[in-house]
Amino acid sequence: MNSDIAHVKQNFEKDLKKITSIEELNLLNIAYLGRKGRVNEVLLSIKDVPKEKRKIFGESVNTLKFFIQKSIDLKRGIILQKKDREHYIDPTLPGLPYPHGSLHIVTYAIEEISQIFERLGFIRMSYREVEWEYFSFESLNMPKDHPARDDFETFFIDFPPHKEYGKMVLTPHTSSGQVREMIRSKKPPIKMINIAKTYRPNWDATHVPMFHQFEGLCIDSGINITNLKGTIEYFARSFFGNNREIRLRPFHFQFTEPSFEVDVTCDICQGTGKVKNLKCKVCKSGWLELGGAGMVHPNVLREGRIDPKKYSGWAFGFGIERVFMMKQGLNVDDIRILYSGDIRFLEQF
Ligand code: PHE
Repeated sequence: MNSDIAHVKQNFEKDLKKITSIEELNLLNIAYLGRKGRVNEVLLSIKDVPKEKRKIFGESVNTLKFFIQKSIDLKRGIILQKKDREHYIDPTLPGLPYPHGSLHIVTYAIEEISQIFERLGFIRMSYREVEWEYFSFESLNMPKDHPARDDFETFFIDFPPHKEYGKMVLTPHTSSGQVREMIRSKKPPIKMINIAKTYRPNWDATHVPMFHQFEGLCIDSGINITNLKGTIEYFARSFFGNNREIRLRPFHFQFTEPSFEVDVTCDICQGTGKVKNLKCKVCKSGWLELGGAGMVHPNVLREGRIDPKKYSGWAFGFGIERVFMMKQGLNVDDIRILYSGDIRFLEQF
């Protein structure tokens, strides 16, 4: 019978060694000390023990019970202590930085551009993304079927056309805000910066179907090309840096006369086109193209109910994604990354 006691003790010690969690320990407790546990099993065998040895036997079972109880309590303490250590927090350590969001880079660029023109007294507008053909084309001296419209590939919206204004489109440029602003403000002087979304059906490494433009429009008496050049130069120096030069290159737009393309000197080669006697890889010529500009065509002024004999004006339209990448000196192979939502790209700015 005493060998039973020794046997249970031995097994218990073996089992206890394998225990690693409180849950397992609770089960072990039941298995040995529970009502139907091993210890009680041994105790029940007391009836087979000769009477005179029963007292001793009872005491031995009690010792065993006491031993098991103690061992389990001890083990419980060890497990809890270990758990505590694993969950220990050192309150004196500096915290981990909390991830914080930011605005999209195009939003930052829009803010900066608006501020630059606000300093010159331009009024910030945001004309329509969904437009009538009239404001995107006819009002800009591009009558129906005029080939110049081909330069502005356009999304048409499946909607009944307007009696006067024609089909509904996603505006392909911010110039559609020109005549709207002339009509809204009724009378010069007009100084507007229209910043809005524009759309053209292109999707490749250098085009996204939705992009942004900012359009300057200035109309008053005696406004000339010098004012245009001065304003763009002010923008270029404020946005890109004080050392920048701009130039106007003759071009053609239906809605301006004369028309220009505007270039700004490249920052990498300082406008020389060369880096250590090699052709500058970024601009190849010393100049980077900003966008289109020109003196507002008399027909466009007339559409805006402004007398071209009394007033003159200029306009320009530049792409925001484009100027942003130029400012950063970014030479990304694929402009679509701007809209991919890839946080690893976006969080750099
Ligand atoms: N709207 C023209 C474009 O998107 C740019 C432009 C604006 C040209 C204003 C002249 C005057 O290409």
